[in-house]
Amino acid sequence: MSEEFNPVTRKKWISYNSLSKKSNKPKTPEKTLEKADPPVDVDKFLMRLDVLRDRMEECEYFTEAMATLKESFLKLQYGEVIGTKIVPNRLVCFGLGQFTRNYQALHQLAFVLCTLEFLDIDEAIFFDPAFSKSEIEALEKLSCKVMKENCEGKFKADVYTIFYMPHCPNCLTNNLLWKNWSPELLKHVILINNSFESLSCSKPDRLLRLDANYIMDIMYDGGVEMPLEDDYTVQNVFNDLSVHVFPPSHLSKKPEFWANKQEPKYNETDTGDMISAEEFAKLSIA
Ligand SMILES: C[S@@+](CC[C@H](N)C(=O)[O-])C[C@H]1O[C@@H](n2cnc3c(N)ncnc32)[C@H](O)[C@@H]1O
Repeated sequence: MSEEFNPVTRKKWISYNSLSKKSNKPKTPEKTLEKADPPVDVDKFLMRLDVLRDRMEECEYFTEAMATLKESFLKLQYGEVIGTKIVPNRLVCFGLGQFTRNYQALHQLAFVLCTLEFLDIDEAIFFDPAFSKSEIEALEKLSCKVMKENCEGKFKADVYTIFYMPHCPNCLTNNLLWKNWSPELLKHVILINNSFESLSCSKPDRLLRLDANYIMDIMYDGGVEMPLEDDYTVQNVFNDLSVHVFPPSHLSKKPEFWANKQEPKYNETDTGDMISAEEFAKLSIA
């Protein structure tokens, strides 16, 4: 088969995409990994993962993180009918990364699995356009669901849901907030991602508004942030992460704050590393 008729595989496409978007930002590891997926023995991988899960469960970082999460549920309880218990029914993980090749994603996966067990959450849904076939197979063997469609973070929280989005592009989080832009839906969102506070200090408001408009609005108007102190033994895995919750009693009472909110649109230069639905649809999963 001649070069020009080679099918565009998902990995080649990601590589092409990362080269064609001329950005000075450092690329994520996934966007610079190009060659075909190396073969992964999924069962052996799952055995290694088990060892890591055991260590995770016992470490200080995990214990503290679970305490912070439980504290965040209490904040949501305020203003609810007395006796209401906030119990997350679902965990959605966006942008985990290629956990069979990338140590950050691997440790984060162990964290998610331990969280599911600790909080007794049955439903876990993952999506990252960079997942390989073996990674999808591994997640399915772990009884997790993998989304087929790229919703770009626009996921409706119709039940209390932990969204785990470590080090994800701002616009994914921005899209999630837009999709749930009402006190009735936002109260269901328990978001673990990069600190809103650090984000707000990272650049001028004018620039933040390009890809983080909803993040900024909710941060200034009632969002509650609880940092997850990072004393994990491996560095650069859990840095700069916080739990963010949006208790209705704290949120704006002004109707104009909630009304007529436009779906976010981004310039290509402002999407960071987010892969759009359109880009994902072009991929042939050959
Ligand atoms: C900076 S990496 C973070 C990887 C890992 N969680 C970490 O902390 O190192 C951002 C991740 O977002 C993923 N991503 C890009 N577009 C996405 C989308 N539309 N939905 C979900 N994940 C997406 C990328 O493939 C990449 O794995």
